[in-house]
Amino acid sequence: MNQIKENDCMTSSIISMQEHGEDAGPHHPVCRALKAQHASISAMHMRDLFAADPARFERFSLQVGDVLLDYSKNRITEETMGLLVRLAEEADVAGWRERMFGGEKINNTEGRAVLHVALRNRGNQPLIVDGEDVMPKVNAVIAKMGAFAERVRSGAWRGYSGERITDVVNIGIGGSDLGPQMAVQALAPYRHPQLKAHFISNIDGAHVKEVLESLNPETTLFIVASKTFTTQETMTNANHARTWFLAQAQDERHIAGHFVAVSTNREAVTAFGIDPANMFEFWDWVGGRYSLWSAIGLSIMLAVGAERFIELLDGAHAMDAHFRDAPLDRNMPVILALLGVWYNNFFGAQSHAILPYDHALRSLPAYLQQADMESNGKSVDRDGKAVDYDTGPIIWGASGINGQHAFYQLLHQGTRLVPADFIVSVEPHDDLQAHHDILLANFLAQTEALMRGRTLDETQAQTSQFVQHKVFDGNHPSNAILLQTLTPHALGMLVALYEHKIFVQGVIWNLNSYDQWGVELGKQLARRILPELHADATVASHDASTNALINHYRRMSRRTPA
Ligand code: F6P
Repeated sequence: MNQIKENDCMTSSIISMQEHGEDAGPHHPVCRALKAQHASISAMHMRDLFAADPARFERFSLQVGDVLLDYSKNRITEETMGLLVRLAEEADVAGWRERMFGGEKINNTEGRAVLHVALRNRGNQPLIVDGEDVMPKVNAVIAKMGAFAERVRSGAWRGYSGERITDVVNIGIGGSDLGPQMAVQALAPYRHPQLKAHFISNIDGAHVKEVLESLNPETTLFIVASKTFTTQETMTNANHARTWFLAQAQDERHIAGHFVAVSTNREAVTAFGIDPANMFEFWDWVGGRYSLWSAIGLSIMLAVGAERFIELLDGAHAMDAHFRDAPLDRNMPVILALLGVWYNNFFGAQSHAILPYDHALRSLPAYLQQADMESNGKSVDRDGKAVDYDTGPIIWGASGINGQHAFYQLLHQGTRLVPADFIVSVEPHDDLQAHHDILLANFLAQTEALMRGRTLDETQAQTSQFVQHKVFDGNHPSNAILLQTLTPHALGMLVALYEHKIFVQGVIWNLNSYDQWGVELGKQLARRILPELHADATVASHDASTNALINHYRRMSRRTPA
């Protein structure tokens, strides 16, 4: 197992201590205590902790609305949690939380506020950015989306030939794709029966072709979703869709009935040929990966209707209220964040698995991958100083039940510590109770097996061959998250739970979780390489590998540029 780095406790708590002129560094009392705690916990097995404390579940679980978090199968004691909460206090999580809700420009490198909470501020309390209450414009866009969605869903909105819309295609990538796609999938039981949702993100032409193949331009509505409206993949796919549409519709005037835009960039939307009246706006204080609550969620609203979309917002708002008001030691996002820090910075865990036991949540791992890794995958702190501690882990995962038959071997018997979140609903939407019972039994069995393991004695009692291979060490941590039913409200709570978890970890690691400079270099290089792919002269301006690959492509590609 990885060892903790000498300076792994140099979190922002320590930085705030420095500001107060106190002793700093890994010898700071909280760090020292957490390191000592790690040493003593490392020698304990959760099996024994459970045996010694019949109330361990009550002690380490928390219910917020319809979401139950059981975090008792973690390598913690009350002392551990007390120390971790102290870390959060010293990192000033409460202060940063108020700064976020207060509309301060905590995204310091882009000079922006971080106010996705305003998008679901169902209590309508004023939220101020630059002296302006943003709520009236938030509400106006929700109302505009609602009116539009109603027209499309009811069939009042007609395509150019008079047909009703049967297919909605969201063209976007990253935050303009993953959130809506995940939510539309998650809320499948609530979807309009005559309106299909499709998502095009990949610049690989195979994606746009595959989706358009089955569609009829007369009955298709495109949502071009891009915060910047400059993203190459999205704009290229949108232009292709436009050409495909016009090949049949013939008249550019028909575009108005079949293309709408979601963006912060009115000028670019107009230049693309979309009527600004068909543009749904959002603002620079909404990060792309936090934008499903904004007009970027238009495809969700079209799929499930305005009422259900509002329920999604209500759910997120309920989690926001909990996050803002609950004491840190009874605060679900804070607890999840602290457990993550515990394994990341003290046990040296490199990754964190998201394991939904719910077919409808199969895209949640991919969604959270962007939310978390684009937010906290940073190696300089908010002031640009290189960090000497680990920050965001690798987030990965897949449908849990399928994972059992694929990668769980490593979780149970591999050499790495992989903390995991298991997510399930108590009541399914379908009526296949026998299926759901099996799903639940497996969900429970896996977290139990990971925690308990199977000792040598227990194994020997069952078998005499290959005994060492069949021993399970156990002591693998997991959180169990149980929703009552995967309703829009519950989904809103769940997603907001993770958003705030990411926020808290960003504060503890002293990061700006809301910029993403790491995505720039590749984009710049791709722009430079693109014309070189079909240049006349041999390319020699890169490293030997890149040059050779470009030249190989030039030689071997039989295509001419589009
Ligand atoms: O390149 C990364 C990124 O900027 C993400 O942060 C964002 O969600 C995605 O691309 C799409 O950006 P846009 O909505 O501006 O097209």
